[in-house]
Amino acid sequence: MLSLYDLTCEHEESPLGLALKTPRFSWKLRSDTANTLQAAYRLQIFCEKNLPETGNDAADSTDKTVLWDSGLISSDASVLVKCGLPVLEPETQYTWQVNVNDNQDRTAVGMGSFETGLGNWESPIGKWITGDAAGVPTADLASPLLRKSFTIEKTVTRARLYVTAQGVYEVSLNGKRVGEDYMTPGWTSYLNRIQYQTFDITASLLAGENAMGASFGNGWFTSTLGWQDNREIYGKERAILAELHLSYADGSTEVIATDESWKSHDGPTLCSEIYHGETYDARLEVCGWDKAGLADADWQPVRTVQPVVTKLIPQEGESVRIHEMLKPVEVITTPDGDTVLDFGQNITGFVRFTVDGPEGATLTLEHAEVFDKDGNFYLGNMRSAKNLIHYTLKGKGPETWNPKFTFQGFRLVRIKTENLTWAAEQFTACVLHSEMRTSASFTCARPLVNQLYKNIIWGQKGNFLDVPTDCPQRDERLGWTGDAQAFVRTACTNMDAARFFTKWLHDLSADQLPDGGVPFVIPDVFAGKPDQAHSSAAWGDAATICPWTVYRCYNEKELLEEQFPSMKKWVDWITAQGGDGLWNIGFHFGDWLGLDAKPDSYIGATPTDLIATAFYAYSTQLLLQAAAVLGYREEIAAYEPLHQKIVDRFRAEFVTPNGRLAAPTQTGHVLALHFDLLKEADRPRAIKDLAKLVEDNDTSLTTGFVGTPYLCHVLTRFGRHDLAGKLLLREKYPSWLYPVTKGATTIWEHWDGIKEDGSFWSADMNSFNHYAYGAIGDWLFQVVAGIDMDAAVPAYKKIIVRPQPFDGMPHAEASLETPYGTVRSSWTVTDDAFKLSLDIPANTTATVFLPGKADHEAIEIGSGNGQSFTV
Ligand code: BGC
Repeated sequence: MLSLYDLTCEHEESPLGLALKTPRFSWKLRSDTANTLQAAYRLQIFCEKNLPETGNDAADSTDKTVLWDSGLISSDASVLVKCGLPVLEPETQYTWQVNVNDNQDRTAVGMGSFETGLGNWESPIGKWITGDAAGVPTADLASPLLRKSFTIEKTVTRARLYVTAQGVYEVSLNGKRVGEDYMTPGWTSYLNRIQYQTFDITASLLAGENAMGASFGNGWFTSTLGWQDNREIYGKERAILAELHLSYADGSTEVIATDESWKSHDGPTLCSEIYHGETYDARLEVCGWDKAGLADADWQPVRTVQPVVTKLIPQEGESVRIHEMLKPVEVITTPDGDTVLDFGQNITGFVRFTVDGPEGATLTLEHAEVFDKDGNFYLGNMRSAKNLIHYTLKGKGPETWNPKFTFQGFRLVRIKTENLTWAAEQFTACVLHSEMRTSASFTCARPLVNQLYKNIIWGQKGNFLDVPTDCPQRDERLGWTGDAQAFVRTACTNMDAARFFTKWLHDLSADQLPDGGVPFVIPDVFAGKPDQAHSSAAWGDAATICPWTVYRCYNEKELLEEQFPSMKKWVDWITAQGGDGLWNIGFHFGDWLGLDAKPDSYIGATPTDLIATAFYAYSTQLLLQAAAVLGYREEIAAYEPLHQKIVDRFRAEFVTPNGRLAAPTQTGHVLALHFDLLKEADRPRAIKDLAKLVEDNDTSLTTGFVGTPYLCHVLTRFGRHDLAGKLLLREKYPSWLYPVTKGATTIWEHWDGIKEDGSFWSADMNSFNHYAYGAIGDWLFQVVAGIDMDAAVPAYKKIIVRPQPFDGMPHAEASLETPYGTVRSSWTVTDDAFKLSLDIPANTTATVFLPGKADHEAIEIGSGNGQSFTV
């Protein structure tokens, strides 16, 4: 039997509010026989009013209903297949149908739908409104309540609410919160583009009077961002824009929009800041404020605001939502006498609680990641971020609340109350992150490595809250480019992060300097500061590494095409620095936090000009690979000689005539080998020297942000897989497992965030949720479990299976939900045999390289579950 599943349009199942561009469709084949490949497909698009009957074979549909029909195309394409509809209409629902024939003469059909949004919402009917007093700094402002009541007199067939804000907003209708998204409209390069959300609220409307409520907090728009009391970066006015588009059964339509007819009232949220938390006084709640029938005569008129944001785009990224809900595992009284809830897991999100007490009783929550060495609640590493929740009870029975416009990074919560008793079960930690589907799992014979993998996943959850942040707790939470490029491949393996990175990369292009320089953080909160440097090696290279990786993992050719100008501008910017093939000037973060740094320095010992030139070569190589995929011949002709020149100059500058790498550091050797910068003849010496550098250092690493992601890959690729295995399994500091032995539940910023004696590495740079070193995750998948893809074909269409056991690792098992379906690899080494079991999804093939066998003995296989191999 053949069937289709996971039918998506633009990576989403039944998207609402889609951009007005030619959409792409994906489907997966499920087959109960081996070696299934798609032989042909037929894609058809229908408009709303002319739906084909469900399950109808497309061939039976009348031509009248079809807006576009690809006809039967002999092709195995099933991932992001573009339809030919040139222009989509706004606010229109479409259905699509795909018919697939396979290589075993079977057919299958699948259907999906999508609905367009307002396009770029260029001329809103609504006005931007606020309830804030004019001229008051936003740090001192409470969140106003805004409301509008309206009457529905006819039958509504469709109601869509389009909303955005300068700030972060929450909207409610007839007393109920609209949607499940938090921190909307998300964080983008606001001065260039801001997202709006689309909500289907048809079912929530009432016949007769309805009321809509809206409120907002500072969000990223006006909160302090960065560590220099840098606030109101994008503007000084918080405001909201909303339009409710109603379609009636009689064919008429109506728009109810934000305008001067809305009313405003003081609200209970007294302040909210990204870093500092939220203060809420429930006594100030206005009962029924967002319901029909409120006597609102004492409400004030709203003020219209001239927005600083001019380009309104439909939501591009994933929605931020609540995922896991965790209960405290322990209530701890510290030596200092504090009462602390331990949620058992370092997370990003907020605490929801239900309390019952007298009017005016208070509850204060402070958030921390760890205890200090004496077991006391530790806030030093939060720097200036207060992470403080202060709640005052209204005292009319049990009240349930959580913050609305902020989030915290924490495992521990210190509770202080006045006039209130409580129990641990009244508190729940709600985990917030971008809605990326988890697409992978990994387990092996070593429990500490399994915990490391869990920590990598939690590091991703904690730091993928709308943008890829460095950390979620202290006064940063910024889209550091270097961290993102280090982790991107692991991120795209762990979860479906295509939309998440698409949005962020569009912001990278938007914030890229006119001359091609790349800001340190995206969105660029330091833009326009005259003394603000930009474009560090390995940070700015996110401009090439991230789009290339997203293309490889998801077949995102369109993103590659969109980002190509940005990739090119970045390489050209480096060239324009005038190093004639070297990149040897400017500020660089170097091998950030490398353990071979001088005392009191964050920058590892590898010379920054070596790192910079190596990344210059790598970015140029990725630009060339992208040009080849996109068929850009002129660019290939132009950049091939540049790449060769950089490689030649690298060799002349950093390799001695006898083939020794002049920089005796692990990271120097790792980069030279990983980016293919050495002559073939010089590689054996380089790997030997690298191995010696590792072995002479008590078989441990010294690498920082730049070298660490590639260290094990290089050792494995050049014949020292044994040493890579030893590095992975090392439990003493420094190693990936050392933090695990110290009870880490996320990835730490520093190899020794907590030292053996329980003291801290430092107070000011010591995050316990920093994903960068979690980049070992892609080595666990590609090398240990052995699931990778062919270098020439994206998205696991041609799977490479090459499991590589090592001493102390007798078993590993991983599964990965690829764009074609699930790949699973499970292997075990016993005394006399290596046994491998594989699931290979339909419409893919795999090449299996078995341990101890030469490459020419690789086995070509087709799809099918439970395929087994023994050596
Ligand atoms: C961040 C890093 C970042 C770095 C720049 C730090 O403050 O937390 O992760 O990449 O600055 O080197």
